[in-house]
Amino acid sequence: MISRRKAIKSLGLTALSLSTLPQASVAESLTHKPGLPPVNDPAYWKGVRDQYMLSKEQVFFNPGTIGAMPRVVVERVTKHMNYLATHVADWAYKDDNSENFITGYQHLLFIRNKVAKLLNCDAKELALTDNTTNSMSYIAHGMELKSGDEIITSNQEHGGGISSWKVREQRDGAVVKIVDIPKPIKSKEEVIDLFVKSFTSKTRVLMLSHIISGSGAILPVKEICAEAKKRNIFTVLDGAQTTGHIKVDLKDIDCDAYVGCFHKWIGAPAGTGYMFVKPEYIKDIWTTVASYRWDNHDDEGFRFTQRGTGNYSMIEGLDAALDFHFQIGPDRVYERIRFLGDRLREGLRTINKVKIFSPEDNAMCAGITVYNIQGYTGTQLQDAFWEKARMRPRASGDVFGVRHCTHIFNSPEEIDKALSIVKQLAS
Ligand SMILES: Cc1ncc(COP(=O)(O)O)c(C=O)c1O
Repeated sequence: MISRRKAIKSLGLTALSLSTLPQASVAESLTHKPGLPPVNDPAYWKGVRDQYMLSKEQVFFNPGTIGAMPRVVVERVTKHMNYLATHVADWAYKDDNSENFITGYQHLLFIRNKVAKLLNCDAKELALTDNTTNSMSYIAHGMELKSGDEIITSNQEHGGGISSWKVREQRDGAVVKIVDIPKPIKSKEEVIDLFVKSFTSKTRVLMLSHIISGSGAILPVKEICAEAKKRNIFTVLDGAQTTGHIKVDLKDIDCDAYVGCFHKWIGAPAGTGYMFVKPEYIKDIWTTVASYRWDNHDDEGFRFTQRGTGNYSMIEGLDAALDFHFQIGPDRVYERIRFLGDRLREGLRTINKVKIFSPEDNAMCAGITVYNIQGYTGTQLQDAFWEKARMRPRASGDVFGVRHCTHIFNSPEEIDKALSIVKQLAS
């Protein structure tokens, strides 16, 4: 019988963890080095594009729903799944905590440390979860709230962010107060003002998207959180659309909690999310999905990360996706996404009959642009892109047209082609 260690070696894996493998998978020439290369270096970005399995016959503009995984991510996931399917009987559960066949029980600090580096926080303040919705639910259901306590939020929140608070409203008599923000937003000041005016002595929580998914607006969350803090309001931000898209510096933003996922802009497998809560608050948040560590406060992030059997292959994929992101360099990724988004918005602004619902202040935009052409519904526009050029932005409703995301696997040529289609449809 072939030994476990040999079997692992034959698969090219280490006995300790697949994730200890050196990440030689992204070409050396793509690895971040200071000063290299400009945001529009065609050869460099073509090299990046080649790291994706995305069909060259199609153009993907919808990582705001689900990201495209780089090849290294898929390879790590499938390698681990093969390993698991083949060698699970070889797992000496009782004496072996070093190998990872399932997740949901381990602290997963090696990943939490990488995420902490990305978000500028401490790994102990971070839990790994399955998605943004779960993370927000852990916070909303874990907080002590009483009848009459106000939760302030906007009229443009995603169901995965707002719904757990609505449950608290129905169950406990807390009050969800909706602040209407315009679409498009004109300026940061306009939004800050609306939220500050909405705070009352009963406001306990402010829950807000950092980027609004239906417009791409980057909200001035640092300023709004500072105002909330002056009034002792707990601040929780929904970062489903930010992580891997724009810089997220939790120390700088200084919110009390932040939730997000890796399966959109980071390109990790679906079912990978996180929750951050400041140490002074996380200790008081009840565990919603409880296992052995439900009341163990030694490592608060672990208390929430432990949530029953999960899929370790996805953790392998997440690890690979984070490494890929770091190898290219987060700042370079954000710049490229924004560069392409700016090109799209600049082009759209020159076309008659196009209405843009993303903020008028371009500093509040990055890789998400929402727009429509007069006379079209979102579905018609989405279908027209597909029929004409196999391009896939996502319908955003009858009025708002399409949500058109740009990412590092896109090119300026793809943006220009999309603009030529918009021009054609508008004429
Ligand atoms: C702002 C926002 N919040 C929450 C979610 C839900 O995210 P998840 O599927 O990771 O739970 C989304 C998904 O599109 C979103 O855009």
